[in-house]
Parts: sequence; C-alpha cells; structure tokens
Amino acid sequence: MKFNQSNIKKAKKYLNKNYCIGVPTETVYGLAANAYKDSAVKKIFNLKKRPKNNPLIVHYHDIDSLKRDCFINDNFTKLYKKFSPGPITYILQLKKDSKISKYVTGNKKSLAVRFPKHVLFKNLLKQLEYPLAAPSANISTKVSSVKAKDVKEEFGNKIKYILDGGVCAIGIESTIINLTNKPTILRLGGLDISKIRKTLGCKIDININPRKKITSGQSHLHYSPGIPLRMNILKPKNNEAFILIKKKKNKLNNYFYISTKNDLNEAAKNLYSCLRKIKNLGYKSIAVEKIPFRGIGKTINDRLERASKF
Ligand code: TXA
Ligand code: MG
Repeated sequence: MKFNQSNIKKAKKYLNKNYCIGVPTETVYGLAANAYKDSAVKKIFNLKKRPKNNPLIVHYHDIDSLKRDCFINDNFTKLYKKFSPGPITYILQLKKDSKISKYVTGNKKSLAVRFPKHVLFKNLLKQLEYPLAAPSANISTKVSSVKAKDVKEEFGNKIKYILDGGVCAIGIESTIINLTNKPTILRLGGLDISKIRKTLGCKIDININPRKKITSGQSHLHYSPGIPLRMNILKPKNNEAFILIKKKKNKLNNYFYISTKNDLNEAAKNLYSCLRKIKNLGYKSIAVEKIPFRGIGKTINDRLERASKF
C-alpha cells in the first residue's frame, strides 16, 4: 500500500473540485464525494446508476464532526466507544440545520453515518472541511470492490482518481443499525451482531428482509456477480465454477478457494474478488460449498443468498 501524503493531497484536490473519487475503507472501497455539495452528490448517483431514493452513507472522521449534522443518543455513544472507527454504520436523526445535501438522504429525516478505520481514508477525512458521502464503489446491484483495480473495472475513466489503499482487510460491507428508534439491524455486515447485543445489553430487532425495503442491501437482487449462483452444494455441475472454504483432496481447474482451512474471516475477505474473478474467466454459473452459519459466516450467507436471486 502506498501511504504517502502526496496521494492524499491529490484525493483532496479532486474532492475540493466536487469530483467523485475511489477511496479505500476496511470493509469495501467507496465512491466518495463532498456530502455537503448537491452537484458532487448527484455525480455519485449517476456513476453508480443508483435509484435516487436509495440514501448514501456519510463518512466522518470523528464524533465532533458528526455533531454538526446529527443528534446522538445513549445507544450510539455506547456503540461508538466500542466499535468506531470500524465496520458499523449508524442510522441517526438528522438535524434540521445540517449541511448534508438533500440528495444524500433523498429528503429523509435520518442519516446513515460511519467512521472508517482505514488509515488512508481516516487521514483524508481529517484534512477535509466536510464529510464524505460514499456508497460502495460498484455499479448498482453488482459486487462491491475490494481493491483499486476493481474500482477501475467498474468505472474506468469516468472517475478522476482512486486512492489506492491495498486490499480491504474485511472485504464485506459494514453492519447497519438503526438507532432512531428501538435498535434494529438493517444489514448484516463486518461486525458480528452478537457483539452489538452484548454492548447494548438489550434485545435488538433484526429486520434485514422487510416487505417494504428500507435499504437497498435488503433488496433480494444485490451483490450479484451477473451469473446464476447456487448455495450449499456438495458437487458442482460440469463447467460450473465451485467456490470452496475447505481444502479438498482432488484439485480441479474449476475449484476456487476463499479459504482452505474453513476460516470465515479469510473467506469474507476473499469472497468478492473470487466472484469477480469467476465472472471474468467467463464461467456461466457458480456453485458454493456450504458456509458455516456463525460469526461473519452469517453475513457471507446473506450476501450469497441475495446474489443467488439473479
Ligand atoms: O461498508 C460500507 O458500509 C460501505 C463503505 C464504502 O463504507 N458502504 C456501503 O454503502 O456499503 P452502500 O451505499 O452500498 O450501502 C448503504 C446502505 C444502502 O443499502 C442504503 O439503502 C442504506 O445503507 N441507507 C443509507 N441511508 C439510510 C437511512 N437513512 N436509513 C436506512 N438505510 C439507509
Ligand atoms: Mg453497496
């Protein structure tokens, strides 16, 4: 990873001119722009081909910068102290006099906020006078980007700059929790919800597949590699790519390991790259071995389930 101030300076220069750029986070790459500027935020929606009513996450350096735009509460403070910066996004009530562009929220009264941990992104945010709206850096409904090369593959020359921060450490999006009301999980993600439950010391609701969609990550077609995908498979069909998590005796060309030792964190980190690779190799369908339903394995299963709706 190239960590030098001159890259951060470049990123800053483009953002100050209201361009969108690619940014690294510990979860997935983001497509970032000034969250206070209508014209900059609109570019994100156009580039991603994202429906205008699907709100964006805003990234802040710290709690002080957040307080200009949102009301905080006790549950937020407890979670913030324990898990931020990190892979958790909070839905909070927006202040009436906040400077957040109405295009970020689609005129909603709440705002999704996150404090990323990646050292480059954190450093960049610290140097800016505004927070950054940044959805995952992929065309709407497609697989997220986990390295600079993926972002380039998604947007080509349509974006001016990608701040290269290497491969994302977690590789799967943040966990989203709504704190405007009774704490409710809206999206499974990089932070295990059992840890959230323990910290809040209360029951939390899980609403990841509501009838009325609140977030796009709840949509049934999402995180799609663009070809059919089947889950919990013991034996793939001929010509089908087979994603595995445990080392097998035989070695076939269509075997793709996201881990060889049933390591779920490793599997999460490698999942999106693997889906992208298989698609680029020209396979027409994907089979996936059973992924254990524990820890971040629940999030992997959630993403595969949605990808399988293609
Ligand atoms: O890890 C992540 O969260 C990455 C990195 C770049 O931070 N970002 C990300 O953003 O995954 P995106 O836009 O792909 O997903 C954000 C989700 C969407 O499903 C959106 O509908 C939901 O957050 N969301 C945003 N604002 C919301 C709000 N006010 N209420 C409910 N859901 C909201
Ligand atoms: Mg996304």
